[in-house]
Amino acid sequence: MTRLRVAIQKSGRLSDKSLDLLKSCGLSFARSKDKLFWYGRDFPVDVLLVRDDDIPRMLLDGVCELGIVGENIASEVMLERNSKKDLNCLRKLGFGRCRLSLAIPEELEITSLSELRGKRIATSYPALTRHLLEKLDLRTEIVELSGSVEIAPGLGTADAISDLVSTGTTLRANHLRELEVLFESEAALYGRVNGISEAKQQLLTRLLARLEGVMQARECKYVMLHAPREALEKITQLLPGVEHPSIMPLEGSDRIAIHAVCGEAVFWEHLEALKAVGASAILVLPVEKMLA
Ligand code: PRP
Ligand code: ZN
Repeated sequence: MTRLRVAIQKSGRLSDKSLDLLKSCGLSFARSKDKLFWYGRDFPVDVLLVRDDDIPRMLLDGVCELGIVGENIASEVMLERNSKKDLNCLRKLGFGRCRLSLAIPEELEITSLSELRGKRIATSYPALTRHLLEKLDLRTEIVELSGSVEIAPGLGTADAISDLVSTGTTLRANHLRELEVLFESEAALYGRVNGISEAKQQLLTRLLARLEGVMQARECKYVMLHAPREALEKITQLLPGVEHPSIMPLEGSDRIAIHAVCGEAVFWEHLEALKAVGASAILVLPVEKMLA
């Protein structure tokens, strides 16, 4: 029988959210003892738990058809292999946001990037850093490190670093300051472009439709409220991502009930604005599943 394999991070920033997402798509797994391979029970998709840095290479080498990994790592491997077309970004997933930034020691009086010309930059993203700096017309010496990049300036092995930043805690703890954001990244579902059979492709299409539904449902909210009939137009404009709400009369009242699926995030400011034009009894509900 046709099955797909999806590689996800074994333990780290993306692990829990990657697994949650697959479960939301209706996947469930029989967990094997070695914990590296989980068999998909209800849907023929199995999971491989690996180091995130290995995921793009596993896709390129044909070990799996799908992988959830940061765009930073996927870009690094594609540049390293010079194979931009062999990994397909199927869907950005909205979590694992971080940035690849150039950072320098706090006390260094550098204000512009050009002052880093000819300097040593430590990074575990050599291909991506080189590529991005070349685009900025900045020639530097890249010092490749596999980890603990943030201590390189303190050790005197580099003048600056190019590393991932999410909260900035690591930089602060090492007395480094962010000079320039080079690349913004989030987790994405990647697929192989070549060597996928027709049957696998069909399975992939089904999985992607479910994923799209899950992602849209996460962004969507079902909003219900009461309003004076004459405020309908204003309210429709205020509901984020809504064109045609459902309108229902309210028994024994001249007000109406309005129901709508909001395609964009609903914030408190939206509710306050709705109230200001006469809405009351405003309810915002999560949407669990959606299939367009
Ligand atoms: C990155 C980066 C820093 C840290 C920054 O590592 O190398 O160490 O995160 O995060 P902060 O701004 O919140 O302090 P990552 O989590 O990617 O681990 P890995 O390099 O071991 O995969
Ligand atoms: Zn990693």
